[in-house]
Amino acid sequence: MNEPVPVALRGVSFAYEDGPPVLTGLDFAVREGRALALLGRNGSGKTTLMRLLSGGLRPDSGELTVEGRAVRYDRKGLTALRTTVQLVVQDPDDQLFAASVGQDVSFGPLNLGLSDTEVRARVTEALAALDITALADRPTHLLSYGQRKRTAIAGAVAMRPRVLILDEPTAGLDPDGQERLLATLDGLRDNGTTVVMATHDVDLALRWADDVALLTPSGAHTGPAAGMLARTDLLAAAGLRLPWGVAVARLLRERGWLAGDAAGPRTAEELAALRVP
Ligand SMILES: Nc1ncnc2c1ncn2[C@@H]1O[C@H](COP(=O)(O)OP(=O)(O)OP(=O)(O)O)[C@@H](O)[C@H]1O
Ligand SMILES: [Mg+2]
Repeated sequence: MNEPVPVALRGVSFAYEDGPPVLTGLDFAVREGRALALLGRNGSGKTTLMRLLSGGLRPDSGELTVEGRAVRYDRKGLTALRTTVQLVVQDPDDQLFAASVGQDVSFGPLNLGLSDTEVRARVTEALAALDITALADRPTHLLSYGQRKRTAIAGAVAMRPRVLILDEPTAGLDPDGQERLLATLDGLRDNGTTVVMATHDVDLALRWADDVALLTPSGAHTGPAAGMLARTDLLAAAGLRLPWGVAVARLLRERGWLAGDAAGPRTAEELAALRVP
């Protein structure tokens, strides 16, 4: 529990103009190297929380911290924030605007004032990481939805952030597209990027995340994924069902087929591979 905290919200309250409070006194920390899934019902404030973490919105009270220090929302502070945290919004059409894939992905690094060589290296690396090198010259308006999503993520990856935040990245992807995206995110994790995603998919969260944050009316409850996703009280408060894998693990334990401290199967493949005595 002692990993550094690259970015956190401390006692943050936020309401949109003329709207009711969305978040009140929220404490939320992203711990280095821990894949974090953020879950909560529609309208619970996941997107708002992510925009507060990436500096797109400012808290009404409380603070956003980078490495424990409060962020200043001036140009210098926001540039430092952008190299620490990158947000990929849910709808790629809200993020893409350049004529071609390569141009779009190069926009962020160019804005950092990096040399042409450095920008090119980063774009090449980000396109390769997202498996879209072949699309570099393709006009963005001709891309499929899944390709637009990958391009939007590549644009964030090209900034080489310490923390990559994705708002419902698997929504709208077909099963193979989801698998490829998860493999891509694993690759980024292996290279030291801390990945945070909002999702409504409890089974995906169980399988992918180290930690889970459940956003409920009483605040954000964060802890190791398997434990949090077995908390029926919190799941109900967050409008979520019990993950399939948690229910199976319970049954296996009751039958004595799984040791009390062993991790249960998280996918159908892991269940099929399970050897029961
Ligand atoms: N731009 C905005 N102006 C005013 N109110 C907003 C705005 N964006 C969101 N809200 C309100 O803030 C609350 C939280 O919305 P938010 O989008 O953060 O929820 P969410 O958890 O991401 O939901 P979903 O699962 O549907 O994506 C909702 O009540 C919503 O209506
Ligand atoms: Mg949302």
